[in-house]
Amino acid sequence: MNIQDKDPIIEAHDLTVTYNRKPALWSVDFLLPKHKLIGIIGPNGAGKSTLIKSIMGLVPLASGYVKIFNQDLDDVRSKISYVPQRGSVDWDFPASVLDVVLMGRYGKNKLFKRSNKKDREIAMQCLEKVQMLPFVNRQIAQLSGGQQQRVFIARALAQNADLYLLDEPFAGIDAASEDAIFRLLQDIRSEGKSIMVVHHDLQSAARFFDWILLLNTRLVAVGPKEKVFSENLLNETYGGKLTVLSDLGDIMKEQDMPARENK
Ligand SMILES: Nc1ncnc2c1ncn2[C@@H]1O[C@H](COP(=O)(O)OP(=O)(O)OP(=O)(O)O)[C@@H](O)[C@H]1O
Ligand SMILES: [Mg+2]
Repeated sequence: MNIQDKDPIIEAHDLTVTYNRKPALWSVDFLLPKHKLIGIIGPNGAGKSTLIKSIMGLVPLASGYVKIFNQDLDDVRSKISYVPQRGSVDWDFPASVLDVVLMGRYGKNKLFKRSNKKDREIAMQCLEKVQMLPFVNRQIAQLSGGQQQRVFIARALAQNADLYLLDEPFAGIDAASEDAIFRLLQDIRSEGKSIMVVHHDLQSAARFFDWILLLNTRLVAVGPKEKVFSENLLNETYGGKLTVLSDLGDIMKEQDMPARENK
């Protein structure tokens, strides 16, 4: 056991989640280290959102447990910021962009609490970071999908959490903005935060993540990107259906990674 294993940000043991008796996650075990940008990678229906929800206590567990900062969820909830996958959120509620980001400052149950100057300053700074400051007074429903997504990332940043769980935060976001936000996430990682991101694009995954967790109902692999991002393991994750596998050689070369797993 190394030092990282002794002080994980998240520990999952024998995690099984079923919907109508069909497993979405099957006996998943892992330890994730602190202060990393971690990608959750796997095909549609692999259980990625279910994994994030099980960490957030939003789905009943058929077996197993999750510990966060070595504690139970209820003791650390305020230190966690969760951005659900688009489509699971009602984006049409009546609130301005500023209101939405301010929610990150007081928690969603206290929306109508009066904000103070400091809260508003922080909210504006977070909007600036995702380049949404010009839209501060716009209704959230009147933004494009990618713009809404950036506002929700700003809300998560405003929460100043220690652990961020982002479920496909880049859905609908253009490549330039995605790069900028990935760099932002790398910055907050360097400030000592831990970030888990469900993500689909292998190219940007290889560029930006420190660690990768490969999931397909079962855990396929978890570890530093250099170890996990291999043709064999990605093939196993995608059941050989990965059409972009042909590009993988280029990604590996670019990243200076071994094309095959070192056994
Ligand atoms: N509330 C639910 N009721 C029944 N089945 C569900 C429910 N939520 C998810 N599932 C099923 O569980 C499996 C895992 O779903 P999950 O949403 O975790 O996948 P995912 O990896 O996030 O996929 P995607 O990449 O499409 O977001 C899928 O087969 C899905 O159909
Ligand atoms: Mg999902």
